[in-house]
Amino acid sequence: MPGFHYVPFNDIEALRAAIAQLDQGQPHVAAILLEPLQGEGGVNPGDRDYFQQVRQLCDDTGILLILDEVQVGMGRTGQLWGYQNLGIEPDIFTLAKGLGGGIPIGAMLCKSHCAVFEPGDHASTFGGNPFVCGVATKVCQTLMQEQLIDNVAARGTELRSGLTAIAQQHPTLFAGVRGWGLINGLVLANDTPIKSIDVVKAAMAQGLLLVPAGPSVVRFVPPLIVTAEEVQAALAKLRSAILTLT
Ligand SMILES: Cc1ncc(COP(=O)(O)O)c(C=O)c1O
Repeated sequence: MPGFHYVPFNDIEALRAAIAQLDQGQPHVAAILLEPLQGEGGVNPGDRDYFQQVRQLCDDTGILLILDEVQVGMGRTGQLWGYQNLGIEPDIFTLAKGLGGGIPIGAMLCKSHCAVFEPGDHASTFGGNPFVCGVATKVCQTLMQEQLIDNVAARGTELRSGLTAIAQQHPTLFAGVRGWGLINGLVLANDTPIKSIDVVKAAMAQGLLLVPAGPSVVRFVPPLIVTAEEVQAALAKLRSAILTLT
């Protein structure tokens, strides 16, 4: 989209400098758009201090804080919203992926002070149709009634501890593990000759589906209903896959 200026993530000074350069003495910046945890960017969690400073900066200046919850919303991180891991609230946030449980839907949620959209402002042939809204409502009810977020937190801890053990056993391949709840990244070591896609292919050959998040991070995003046994089975398959790479 035109009009966006990019700054390094988790770097408050870079953000302040970019705003100062754009403002040139006159308020110019409308909004700041961030992911609470960068998904495609390498499963890179937001820094709590950084997000609290961004929130304060927005409160002081009137710049709106928009968070992209497309990957981390709907319980994925062990909290209903990804931003709950950071101790702040946005003015606006976006949702998609998990909102429909596989059926395509996206949503934008605004606090009342910035809810300026009128019907027709953002046209879409199928936007907001009754079928997908019915599905999303059911997904929300299931998430809450079946207490799936508790499962996400518990399974996420098990998965991270298994991945951490694997990373420690293979320090020439892996630098470590990062993530929240059930969005986790196994980070490749700097000087390893393999890429994330090599791990993904080796895992697929063992019957385990993973996805790269850039060349140096392997992303683990199992369903929120994953069981403890399935987490252990996935870790066993990953261990077998790694043996084929070494
Ligand atoms: C963090 C994030 N935001 C936005 C999008 C785009 O979402 P949509 O395809 O619903 O426009 C994606 C798609 O992968 C995403 O990962």
